[in-house]
Amino acid sequence: MKIKKAIIPIAGKGTRFLPATKEIAKEIIPIINVPMIHYVVQEAVEAGIEQIIFVTSSGKFSVEDYFDRNQELEAFLERNNKTKDLELVRQIGMMVNVTAVRQKEQLGLGHAVLMAKNMVEGEPFAVLLGDDIVVNPVPAIKQLMNVSLANECANVIGVMEVPKEDTAKYGIVKGDMIDDRTLRMNGMVEKPKPEEAPTNLATPGRYILTPDIFEILEKIPRGAGNEYQLTDAINILCQRKNVLAYKFFGERFDTGNIHGYLDATIDFALKDPLFREKFIQSLQYRIKKYGINL
Ligand code: G1P
Repeated sequence: MKIKKAIIPIAGKGTRFLPATKEIAKEIIPIINVPMIHYVVQEAVEAGIEQIIFVTSSGKFSVEDYFDRNQELEAFLERNNKTKDLELVRQIGMMVNVTAVRQKEQLGLGHAVLMAKNMVEGEPFAVLLGDDIVVNPVPAIKQLMNVSLANECANVIGVMEVPKEDTAKYGIVKGDMIDDRTLRMNGMVEKPKPEEAPTNLATPGRYILTPDIFEILEKIPRGAGNEYQLTDAINILCQRKNVLAYKFFGERFDTGNIHGYLDATIDFALKDPLFREKFIQSLQYRIKKYGINL
Protein backbone atom coordinates (compact mmCIF):
# COMPACT_ATOMS: atom_id res chain seq x y z
CA MET A 1 0.00 0.00 0.00
CA LYS A 2 1.41 3.38 -1.01
CA ILE A 3 2.19 5.64 1.93
CA LYS A 4 0.65 9.03 1.22
CA LYS A 5 0.59 10.81 4.55
CA ALA A 6 3.32 12.02 6.86
CA ILE A 7 2.94 13.32 10.39
CA ILE A 8 5.45 15.98 11.40
CA PRO A 9 5.17 17.01 15.05
CA ILE A 10 6.19 20.65 15.50
CA ALA A 11 4.46 21.65 18.72
CA GLY A 12 7.69 21.99 20.75
CA LYS A 13 8.69 25.39 22.07
CA GLY A 14 12.24 25.24 20.72
CA THR A 15 13.75 26.60 23.93
CA ARG A 16 17.27 25.71 22.79
CA PHE A 17 16.89 28.43 20.17
CA LEU A 18 15.78 31.19 22.54
CA PRO A 19 15.61 34.13 22.21
CA ALA A 20 14.81 33.65 18.49
CA THR A 21 11.98 31.26 19.38
CA LYS A 22 10.41 33.83 21.67
CA GLU A 23 8.67 35.22 18.58
CA ILE A 24 9.31 32.87 15.67
CA ALA A 25 8.73 29.17 15.18
CA LYS A 26 11.96 27.19 15.48
CA GLU A 27 11.08 25.40 12.23
CA ILE A 28 11.29 28.67 10.31
CA ILE A 29 14.85 29.41 11.43
CA PRO A 30 16.81 29.02 8.20
CA ILE A 31 19.92 27.09 7.34
CA ILE A 32 21.41 29.83 5.16
CA ASN A 33 18.19 30.99 3.47
CA VAL A 34 15.98 27.89 3.67
CA PRO A 35 13.87 27.20 6.79
CA MET A 36 14.82 24.00 8.56
CA ILE A 37 11.35 22.53 8.13
CA HIS A 38 11.65 22.90 4.34
CA TYR A 39 14.29 20.14 4.23
CA VAL A 40 12.15 17.73 6.22
CA VAL A 41 9.02 18.36 4.13
CA GLN A 42 11.11 18.11 0.96
CA GLU A 43 12.38 14.70 2.06
CA ALA A 44 8.78 13.55 2.50
CA VAL A 45 7.66 15.02 -0.84
CA GLU A 46 10.58 13.46 -2.71
CA ALA A 47 9.53 10.16 -1.18
CA GLY A 48 6.06 10.53 -2.73
CA ILE A 49 4.15 11.82 0.32
CA GLU A 50 1.04 13.72 -0.77
CA GLN A 51 -0.15 15.14 2.51
CA ILE A 52 1.72 16.58 5.46
CA ILE A 53 -0.03 16.61 8.83
CA PHE A 54 1.66 19.07 11.14
CA VAL A 55 0.95 18.59 14.83
CA THR A 56 1.19 22.16 16.03
CA SER A 57 0.77 24.47 18.99
CA SER A 58 0.20 28.22 19.23
CA GLY A 59 2.70 30.37 17.39
CA LYS A 60 3.26 27.91 14.53
CA PHE A 61 1.06 29.52 11.87
CA SER A 62 4.16 30.65 9.99
CA VAL A 63 4.98 27.01 9.22
CA GLU A 64 1.57 26.44 7.63
CA ASP A 65 1.84 29.80 5.84
CA TYR A 66 5.29 28.92 4.50
CA PHE A 67 3.84 25.99 2.55
CA ASP A 68 0.87 28.05 1.31
CA ARG A 69 0.68 30.42 -1.65
CA ASN A 70 1.49 34.06 -0.91
CA GLN A 71 -0.51 35.92 -3.57
CA GLU A 72 0.68 39.35 -2.47
CA LEU A 73 4.35 38.44 -2.64
CA GLU A 74 3.84 36.63 -5.94
CA ALA A 75 2.12 39.70 -7.43
CA PHE A 76 4.95 41.92 -6.18
CA LEU A 77 7.63 39.66 -7.68
CA GLU A 78 5.70 39.48 -10.95
CA ARG A 79 5.35 43.27 -11.17
CA ASN A 80 9.08 43.61 -10.62
CA ASN A 81 10.02 40.90 -13.13
CA LYS A 82 11.73 38.80 -10.46
CA THR A 83 11.00 35.65 -12.43
CA LYS A 84 13.37 33.31 -10.58
CA ASP A 85 12.17 34.39 -7.14
CA LEU A 86 8.58 34.15 -8.30
CA GLU A 87 9.15 30.62 -9.51
CA LEU A 88 10.78 29.65 -6.19
CA VAL A 89 8.03 31.14 -4.05
CA ARG A 90 5.31 29.54 -6.19
CA GLN A 91 6.97 26.14 -6.09
CA ILE A 92 7.09 26.17 -2.29
CA GLY A 93 3.44 27.20 -2.09
CA MET A 94 2.46 24.29 -4.31
CA MET A 95 4.91 21.73 -2.96
CA VAL A 96 2.41 19.63 -0.99
CA ASN A 97 -0.98 19.62 0.75
CA VAL A 98 -0.66 20.65 4.35
CA THR A 99 -3.09 20.16 7.20
CA ALA A 100 -2.58 20.86 10.86
CA VAL A 101 -3.92 19.53 14.09
CA ARG A 102 -3.34 21.07 17.50
CA GLN A 103 -1.58 19.42 20.38
CA LYS A 104 -3.09 21.43 23.20
CA GLU A 105 -0.66 20.21 25.84
CA GLN A 106 2.89 19.07 25.15
CA LEU A 107 2.68 15.63 26.68
CA GLY A 108 5.30 13.88 24.58
CA LEU A 109 5.94 12.52 21.09
CA GLY A 110 3.51 9.62 21.53
CA HIS A 111 0.77 12.07 22.47
CA ALA A 112 1.65 14.30 19.48
CA VAL A 113 1.35 11.41 17.01
CA LEU A 114 -1.96 10.34 18.58
CA MET A 115 -3.40 13.82 17.82
CA ALA A 116 -3.19 12.98 14.09
CA LYS A 117 -5.14 9.72 14.39
CA ASN A 118 -8.30 10.92 12.64
CA MET A 119 -6.36 12.48 9.79
CA VAL A 120 -4.48 9.29 9.03
CA GLU A 121 -7.75 7.40 8.42
CA GLY A 122 -6.56 3.86 8.89
CA GLU A 123 -3.64 3.92 6.46
CA PRO A 124 0.05 3.23 7.11
CA PHE A 125 1.85 6.55 7.47
CA ALA A 126 5.25 8.15 7.91
CA VAL A 127 6.48 10.16 10.89
CA LEU A 128 9.37 12.59 10.45
CA LEU A 129 10.76 14.65 13.29
CA GLY A 130 11.51 18.21 12.32
CA ASP A 131 14.69 18.41 14.38
CA ASP A 132 16.50 15.94 12.20
CA ILE A 133 17.64 16.67 8.68
CA VAL A 134 18.87 13.66 6.72
CA VAL A 135 20.75 14.20 3.48
CA ASN A 136 20.88 11.42 0.90
CA PRO A 137 20.05 11.06 -2.82
CA VAL A 138 17.32 8.55 -1.92
CA PRO A 139 15.38 10.20 0.94
CA ALA A 140 15.73 8.34 4.24
CA ILE A 141 11.94 8.02 4.61
CA LYS A 142 11.73 6.58 1.08
CA GLN A 143 14.28 3.92 2.03
CA LEU A 144 12.06 2.96 4.98
CA MET A 145 8.97 2.89 2.74
CA ASN A 146 10.77 0.52 0.38
CA VAL A 147 11.64 -1.82 3.26
CA SER A 148 8.05 -1.68 4.47
CA LEU A 149 6.67 -2.51 1.01
CA ALA A 150 9.12 -5.37 0.56
CA ASN A 151 8.01 -6.82 3.92
CA GLU A 152 4.22 -6.90 3.68
CA CYS A 153 3.76 -3.34 4.91
CA ALA A 154 5.75 -3.87 8.08
CA ASN A 155 6.35 -1.06 10.54
CA VAL A 156 9.88 0.21 9.92
CA ILE A 157 11.97 2.34 12.26
CA GLY A 158 14.92 4.20 10.76
CA VAL A 159 18.09 3.76 12.80
CA MET A 160 21.70 4.81 12.84
CA GLU A 161 24.65 3.74 14.95
CA VAL A 162 25.54 6.16 17.73
CA PRO A 163 28.43 6.13 20.21
CA LYS A 164 27.44 4.10 23.26
CA GLU A 165 27.73 7.19 25.50
CA ASP A 166 24.96 8.89 23.48
CA THR A 167 22.20 6.30 23.94
CA ALA A 168 20.44 8.43 26.57
CA LYS A 169 19.54 10.98 23.85
CA TYR A 170 17.54 8.56 21.71
CA GLY A 171 15.03 5.78 21.34
CA ILE A 172 17.16 2.62 21.08
CA VAL A 173 16.00 -0.51 19.26
CA LYS A 174 16.71 -4.17 19.98
CA GLY A 175 16.23 -7.37 18.00
CA ASP A 176 18.00 -9.71 15.59
CA MET A 177 19.82 -8.69 12.44
CA ILE A 178 18.25 -10.32 9.40
CA ASP A 179 20.69 -8.78 6.94
CA ASP A 180 23.47 -6.23 7.26
CA ARG A 181 21.02 -3.29 7.42
CA THR A 182 17.77 -4.75 8.75
CA LEU A 183 16.82 -5.86 12.21
CA ARG A 184 13.70 -7.76 13.26
CA MET A 185 12.80 -5.81 16.36
CA ASN A 186 11.69 -7.33 19.63
CA GLY A 187 11.61 -4.11 21.58
CA MET A 188 12.59 -0.49 21.92
CA VAL A 189 13.66 1.63 24.91
CA GLU A 190 13.50 5.40 25.29
CA LYS A 191 16.78 7.08 26.22
CA PRO A 192 18.49 4.25 28.13
CA LYS A 193 21.68 4.94 30.07
CA PRO A 194 24.71 3.60 28.15
CA GLU A 195 25.14 0.71 30.60
CA GLU A 196 21.49 -0.30 30.11
CA ALA A 197 21.23 0.20 26.34
CA PRO A 198 20.52 -3.05 24.49
CA THR A 199 22.30 -1.81 21.32
CA ASN A 200 23.75 1.40 19.94
CA LEU A 201 21.10 1.60 17.19
CA ALA A 202 19.19 4.86 17.67
CA THR A 203 16.27 6.38 15.86
CA PRO A 204 16.80 9.93 14.67
CA GLY A 205 13.10 10.43 14.01
CA ARG A 206 12.10 8.53 10.88
CA TYR A 207 9.31 5.98 11.17
CA ILE A 208 6.84 4.07 8.98
CA LEU A 209 3.94 2.98 11.15
CA THR A 210 0.69 1.11 10.73
CA PRO A 211 -2.48 2.48 12.36
CA ASP A 212 -2.30 -0.29 15.03
CA ILE A 213 -0.02 2.12 16.88
CA PHE A 214 -2.94 4.45 17.76
CA GLU A 215 -4.82 1.93 19.85
CA ILE A 216 -1.59 1.36 21.82
CA LEU A 217 -0.89 5.10 22.13
CA GLU A 218 -4.36 5.56 23.62
CA LYS A 219 -3.52 3.19 26.46
CA ILE A 220 0.16 3.57 27.35
CA PRO A 221 1.11 5.24 30.63
CA ARG A 222 3.57 8.09 30.79
CA GLY A 223 7.16 6.96 30.34
CA ALA A 224 10.61 8.58 30.27
CA GLY A 225 10.52 12.26 31.21
CA ASN A 226 6.93 11.72 32.44
CA GLU A 227 5.79 11.94 28.81
CA TYR A 228 3.76 9.67 26.54
CA GLN A 229 6.51 8.13 24.46
CA LEU A 230 6.17 6.88 20.88
CA THR A 231 9.03 4.52 21.75
CA ASP A 232 6.94 2.80 24.45
CA ALA A 233 4.09 2.24 22.00
CA ILE A 234 6.50 0.81 19.40
CA ASN A 235 7.91 -1.46 22.09
CA ILE A 236 4.42 -2.95 22.60
CA LEU A 237 3.78 -3.05 18.84
CA CYS A 238 6.85 -5.31 18.51
CA GLN A 239 5.05 -8.01 20.51
CA ARG A 240 2.05 -7.90 18.16
CA LYS A 241 3.27 -7.04 14.67
CA ASN A 242 6.20 -7.28 12.35
CA VAL A 243 8.41 -4.32 13.27
CA LEU A 244 11.71 -3.85 11.49
CA ALA A 245 14.54 -1.41 12.06
CA TYR A 246 16.57 -0.30 9.06
CA LYS A 247 20.00 1.34 9.06
CA PHE A 248 19.25 3.91 6.38
CA PHE A 249 21.83 5.55 4.15
CA GLY A 250 22.44 9.26 4.64
CA GLU A 251 24.02 11.90 6.80
CA ARG A 252 21.91 13.15 9.67
CA PHE A 253 22.13 16.60 11.21
CA ASP A 254 20.61 17.13 14.64
CA THR A 255 19.31 20.64 14.07
CA GLY A 256 17.39 20.55 17.35
CA ASN A 257 20.50 21.90 19.04
CA ILE A 258 22.76 24.81 18.19
CA HIS A 259 25.86 22.68 17.46
CA GLY A 260 24.01 20.45 15.03
CA TYR A 261 22.47 23.54 13.46
CA LEU A 262 25.89 25.16 12.97
CA ASP A 263 27.27 21.92 11.60
CA ALA A 264 24.46 21.76 9.02
CA THR A 265 24.96 25.43 8.12
CA ILE A 266 28.69 24.94 7.48
CA ASP A 267 28.09 21.77 5.50
CA PHE A 268 25.34 23.29 3.35
CA ALA A 269 27.41 26.43 2.68
CA LEU A 270 30.44 24.36 1.65
CA LYS A 271 28.48 22.14 -0.72
CA ASP A 272 26.58 24.97 -2.40
CA PRO A 273 28.49 26.36 -5.40
CA LEU A 274 26.76 29.73 -4.81
CA PHE A 275 28.38 30.19 -1.40
CA ARG A 276 31.32 27.80 -1.29
CA GLU A 277 34.20 29.92 -2.53
CA LYS A 278 33.49 33.06 -0.49
CA PHE A 279 32.60 30.99 2.53
CA ILE A 280 35.96 29.18 2.43
CA GLN A 281 37.68 32.56 2.16
CA SER A 282 35.87 33.88 5.21
CA LEU A 283 36.57 30.69 7.16
CA GLN A 284 40.28 31.00 6.36
CA TYR A 285 40.29 34.65 7.33
CA ARG A 286 38.45 34.08 10.62
CA ILE A 287 40.57 31.07 11.59
CA LYS A 288 43.64 33.29 11.19
CA LYS A 289 41.97 36.24 12.92
CA TYR A 290 41.23 34.20 16.04
CA GLY A 291 44.65 32.52 15.99
CA ILE A 292 43.18 29.03 15.61
CA ASN A 293 45.62 26.22 14.86
CA LEU A 294 43.92 23.46 12.90
C1 G1P B 1 12.63 12.05 20.35
C2 G1P B 1 12.23 10.59 20.54
C3 G1P B 1 13.46 9.69 20.52
C4 G1P B 1 14.25 9.94 19.24
C5 G1P B 1 14.62 11.43 19.13
C6 G1P B 1 15.31 11.73 17.81
O1 G1P B 1 13.29 12.50 21.50
O2 G1P B 1 11.50 10.44 21.73
O3 G1P B 1 13.07 8.35 20.61
O4 G1P B 1 15.39 9.13 19.21
O5 G1P B 1 13.44 12.25 19.21
O6 G1P B 1 15.69 13.06 17.70
P1 G1P B 1 13.56 14.07 21.79
O7 G1P B 1 14.83 14.39 21.07
O8 G1P B 1 12.38 14.81 21.26
O9 G1P B 1 13.71 14.19 23.27
